[in-house]
This record gives sequence, C-alpha cells and structure tokens, in this order.
Amino acid sequence: MTPTTLEAAAGQRAGTLVLAVLSVEIDRVAALIDELEAASYEPARRDSGKGLREVLAIPRAIGSVAYCDGILAGISVAAPLESFGHALGGFPDDEFGKHSTLYFVDTTVDSRMRRRGIGRALKVAQLGTARVQGYRYASGRNRVVLADGMLALNISLGGRILTRIANAYSDGIHPDSAHYYRITL
Ligand SMILES: CC(C)(COP(=O)(O)OP(=O)(O)OC[C@H]1O[C@@H](n2cnc3c(N)ncnc32)[C@H](O)[C@@H]1OP(=O)(O)O)[C@@H](O)C(=O)NCCC(=O)NCCS
Repeated sequence: MTPTTLEAAAGQRAGTLVLAVLSVEIDRVAALIDELEAASYEPARRDSGKGLREVLAIPRAIGSVAYCDGILAGISVAAPLESFGHALGGFPDDEFGKHSTLYFVDTTVDSRMRRRGIGRALKVAQLGTARVQGYRYASGRNRVVLADGMLALNISLGGRILTRIANAYSDGIHPDSAHYYRITL
C-alpha cells in the first residue's frame, strides 16, 4: 500500500496518511484497537484486537491500517464470507460457499479523524487486494442508523443493499437491524 496524504484524499490540510497491511502490524496495535473500538461502538458491535488477530489469521483475510503522522487513525478487517455465516441472520446469500466474497467485519476510524477520506482509503486498498486475490464480491452488514455513514461509503463504492436483517444484535438498542450489502468487484 502506498503512502498518500490526507490533504490529497480529502482536500483538507492534515498530516501524512500511511496505509499498511494490518496482519503485519496487528501485534503492535492490538491494544490501541481495543481503545478505538471502545470509543467507537456500543458493546454488541465491538471487536477486540485479539479477536481481529484471529480473523486476520483466516486464509485469504485482508486487513488494512492507517496511520496519520504515526498515530493509529483507523483499521479495516475482512475475511472470506464462509467464516461469517452466522452474521447473515438466515439470509441466503447465493454466493455463500462459492469462496467468491470478502466479508467486511470491521471498519473503524478514530472519531477525531473522520470525514477526511481515511475510511474510504482503508476500504479501497482492501478491495484492490481482493480483486488481485480473485474475489468477485465484497459484502458486510451495517447497523441501521448507527452505521448509516458506513452504508453511504459502501454505496459510493458501488454497493447495493441485498436485505435488511432483523434482530441482528439482540442488545436491547433500537433499531436492532442491519443492512446487508454487496459490492461487485
Ligand atoms: C464509518 C467510518 C468508518 C467512515 O470513516 P471516515 O474516514 O469518516 O469516512 P470517509 O471520510 O472516508 O468518508 C467517505 C464517504 O463515506 C460517507 N460517510 C462517511 N461518514 C459519513 C456520515 N457520518 N454520514 C454520511 N455519510 C458518511 C460519505 O459518502 C463520505 O464521502 P464524502 O465525505 O465525500 O461525503 C467512520 O465514521 C467510523 O469509524 N464510524 C464509527 C464506526 C462504524 O460505525 N463503522 C462501521 C461499522 S459497519
């Protein structure tokens, strides 16, 4: 992944953005990921650095990490859909079992650095790697209302909503549903 600048990415004056492969960096940033997740999500959607390390160990997983002036700015983790059948909530994704789809588990940007193009840069880097690896689609679920920003980002990358999964989190917080989307690579 090549260095870029936030200024170039978002037309704003900001520090230097460096993208790297998360599986290489994960041991160094796992504790920072715990902090990022606690600050960004309600408990039901929170992942841990340890949990994401396990996801990144799945064959054909793809993770990216962004540093802004050396500070962790964001992470994104994805792995083959076949490892996440439980997240579909019974929706019969017709690509499931074909090893064609990269499922996005977690994309998170530090709240102080949002709307500067970092989330897009993280995801675009992974989608490019996915194409090279032979994936045909990317998919994921976005919590209604709470992840509407992420859904907008996915739609801007060509995503379309395939279904709405009810009772997706079972945490007593409403809405408790998620949009399941697919991007064709
Ligand atoms: C969702 C998230 C990763 C986006 O990261 P980001 O770096 O702020 O996103 P970008 O600056 O790259 O935005 C790219 C596009 O996404 C969309 N977008 C991002 N945040 C948005 C928001 N709050 N509302 C509406 N659209 C939004 C826009 O289309 C934006 O393009 P634009 O800035 O040209 O309008 C970040 O807001 C975040 O970490 N949120 C909390 C965690 C979360 O909900 N993650 C998703 C889990 S499924």
